[in-house]
Amino acid sequence: MRIQSGIEGFDELVQGGLVPERVYLLSGPPGSGKTTFGMQFLVQGATFGESGLYVTLLESPQNVINDMSNYSLNVATLIKMKKLLFADLGPTLEYGYMDELHEVISSDSDASNSSMEAPSPATVFKEIAAYVNEYNIKRLVIDSVSAIRFTTKDRMSEEKEMGRFVRNLKRLGCTTILLSEMTDPTAYSTEQFASHGVVFLHNFLYGKKMARALQIIKMRGTKHDCNMMQLEFTEKGLKVASYLE
Ligand SMILES: Nc1ncnc2c1ncn2[C@@H]1O[C@H](COP(=O)(O)OP(=O)(O)OP(=O)(O)O)[C@@H](O)[C@H]1O
Ligand SMILES: [Mg+2]
Repeated sequence: MRIQSGIEGFDELVQGGLVPERVYLLSGPPGSGKTTFGMQFLVQGATFGESGLYVTLLESPQNVINDMSNYSLNVATLIKMKKLLFADLGPTLEYGYMDELHEVISSDSDASNSSMEAPSPATVFKEIAAYVNEYNIKRLVIDSVSAIRFTTKDRMSEEKEMGRFVRNLKRLGCTTILLSEMTDPTAYSTEQFASHGVVFLHNFLYGKKMARALQIIKMRGTKHDCNMMQLEFTEKGLKVASYLE
């Protein structure tokens, strides 16, 4: 069985959609469309009754909601219906917005949004697992893994921690998209190896113009090619168009 991604033109590239209850990594440079992709994925599920959780670590949920309200994705309605939830697990950078946005799940833990320190993968996982169980979350987006990557003391334990993080996410019973700011496609990370699927979003100089593209790097158990597909922004968010010639 496959579930629909919510991104027009994407499911056809991966034999009809994503295999549910797996962990996928979506990587790309700033402004390449990671948040938009993640939100479309959650909206698709939420529209058909699957609760979705968007975890922010670097950005406030209110900013994400504001940015996404530019698209006709019905984000506000789905939030009101409690089908789309946001959890801010990053260090607190601003105060007061929580009062205005009751739909945001607040965290009580000292290790998360009440301190200025970035939370560790283990603390973030524990909080996510609690929300997934409490709210019966079926689709999960974590924005972003880069935010929790650099919290361990050395490179070895960092890789180990990320491996554990992804392995534990696989047991949560929801379909997860990890967003990552990694921009160098040749610098392979533990989360790329550990994820079931890896998709890159590109934004690069192509001839004399900038081009946006999507590339499926890997998708376990799925027949796909690895070519660059043109990516467009429409009023409904991202859309995968034809091959980049
Ligand atoms: N109608 C629109 N509303 C908002 N953004 C749009 C729209 N059309 C195109 N965009 C593009 O979408 C980009 C933002 O997309 P998105 O936030 O999904 O990217 P991102 O990869 O998550 O970025 P970041 O690395 O900053 O988190 C903008 O920089 C802009 O170029
Ligand atoms: Mg983003």
